[in-house]
Amino acid sequence: MLRIVVCVSGSGTNLQAILDGIDTGRVTNTELTAVISNNAGAKALKRAEEHGIPGICISPREYADRETFNRAFTEELCRRKPDLVVLAGFLVKIPEQAVAAFPNRIINIHPSLIPSFCGVGYYGLKVHEKALERGVRVTGATVHFVNEGMDEGPIIAQKAVYVEDNDTPESLQRRVMEQAEWILLPQAIDDIANGRLTVADGKVRRKV
Ligand code: GRF
Repeated sequence: MLRIVVCVSGSGTNLQAILDGIDTGRVTNTELTAVISNNAGAKALKRAEEHGIPGICISPREYADRETFNRAFTEELCRRKPDLVVLAGFLVKIPEQAVAAFPNRIINIHPSLIPSFCGVGYYGLKVHEKALERGVRVTGATVHFVNEGMDEGPIIAQKAVYVEDNDTPESLQRRVMEQAEWILLPQAIDDIANGRLTVADGKVRRKV
């Protein structure tokens, strides 16, 4: 049984896709043991509560400095003893000590086809604004392992989504969520929970 902790900051639609995946049996061999948010008002925490899953708020604002927050966040993660940490719209940079404590055991969903529109400053709606500004015809989402960089870890899976001429950032974000994020993240968790992925030389391979 893969024990997972999910980190969130906002509405929690990706968390909901994981919860629904477990409930419907699309995600197997997985137990969601806790949800951690940096935002006490995150709707994602309400989704966890409705599912009877412990929700914890750890915000950098509660700590004297970032280093103290990083230590507290990492200690909380370790206390939960997860096999996998899932970043589902988590807007806080993962501390290096947490990445070191969970090598190739933290995954993130990013709303673009990495290496496009990613890295520092590319998050949430801003990603889609930049995609529309550039005029790309295809965008999508990427689920990847987290390393010490920003959106630079080994790519697990990607899914393309066509941009439509009348798209706004909001309509594009919604379609990328529906057609890519909410499919990729549960699928990646199920693959990891059932031992289908290997990482070698920074590349992810699916066992046939
Ligand atoms: C999603 O667009 C995700 O790709 C990005 O942040 C947003 C989170 O949405 N990382 P939600 O909180 O899962 O609804």
